[in-house]
Amino acid sequence: MSNTATRRRRPEVETLISERRIKRRIEELAGLLNRDYAGREVVLVPLLNGAIVFVADLIRHLDFPVFLDCIGVSSYGSRTVPEGLVFTKELRIGIRKREVIVIDDILDTGRTLKAVHRRLQALKPASLRTCTLLDKPSRRQVPFEADYIGFTIPDHFVVGYGLDFDERYRNLRYLGRLNTETSTGSKA
Ligand code: PRP
Repeated sequence: MSNTATRRRRPEVETLISERRIKRRIEELAGLLNRDYAGREVVLVPLLNGAIVFVADLIRHLDFPVFLDCIGVSSYGSRTVPEGLVFTKELRIGIRKREVIVIDDILDTGRTLKAVHRRLQALKPASLRTCTLLDKPSRRQVPFEADYIGFTIPDHFVVGYGLDFDERYRNLRYLGRLNTETSTGSKA
């Protein structure tokens, strides 16, 4: 359909980081991980749901032996003010004395990764590091730094490549900035 109104309307999602840049950065991140974990066996722990696209691409560039087990965790409360976390799936693989890397799509207030880190640390892994595709340091509410970061970004509402707005847009091949009033001060 083509008419003046549709032509003039701003696109709902503007490209923030292209598919090509994501691919290149993931190869770089994998290079860092391959250097740091060469010859070691690692348990990768992606956080559902947002991290699934990222980990699916990242894992195929890793050269060291990996095990994979997801944790399901989701914030609840309003979209803009996270009030708490609910764990929807626990780890099934034992991580005691093993090397563990938690994988997430975005580090925002820090509440999710802080809580997951505390939970996994109690299981006494040999090492525990975090890899996030996106970091929004300006939004941090609890102190937490990731060990591996794909892109550090300003406070835009980001969707695509696994990230959602009301469960939509996860399938976009790129990372986009959502053009809507609801994006102001939002978490992702
Ligand atoms: C999102 C995202 C991160 C978390 C980051 O998950 O995937 O896990 O929020 O936010 P934080 O740093 O403020 O804790 P969400 O709870 O929206 O669930 P989802 O992964 O299913 O989208």
